[in-house]
Amino acid sequence: MKSYRRLFVVELPAAMDALKTDHSTEAQIRASVTYNMIVEGVLAETGYHGFRESLEANGKMPGLLEGIRLVSRDESRHIRYGVFLLDRLINESPVGWDVMNRHMNELLAPAMGVISEFWEGYDEENAPFGQRMETYLDFASTQFDKRMKVLERDRGKSLAEIERAAIADLVADDAAVGAAG
Ligand SMILES: [Fe+2]
Repeated sequence: MKSYRRLFVVELPAAMDALKTDHSTEAQIRASVTYNMIVEGVLAETGYHGFRESLEANGKMPGLLEGIRLVSRDESRHIRYGVFLLDRLINESPVGWDVMNRHMNELLAPAMGVISEFWEGYDEENAPFGQRMETYLDFASTQFDKRMKVLERDRGKSLAEIERAAIADLVADDAAVGAAG
């Protein structure tokens, strides 16, 4: 629970509360990194992934599974908004990229810790729904890397270019979901 406490009891409220008195671009970057990139982008996404994997692998509760697929699709849109926001903020501040990069990397270890600590209560070879911790750690770090790649891709772009990139990504995501059925 150490990592969970650090992220949800310390980092998340601190980053959000700071905005009440600190309206700087850098404070907004730290809040968006904490909330959109780490809590939503790494942990919520991994949680939904676990839900889907567990139900799919076992053919359980198809109605709930369909609901989770829709919630997860909605979540990915919130997160894409977060990337759009961060893209803009990063390009507004000369230290924007560094503030984002530092905070992402500070929070990566506790984010991964939330996942590994969750598994402490389970026998790894015999976990519920036949799941394995490694696949979740892999999924979470892939989410982190994916977001960093988009931020890097959009670094230095104009607002119009950032908007076009966000729309193109949303269209591509919807097409992928449509193709997956
Ligand atoms: Fe969300």
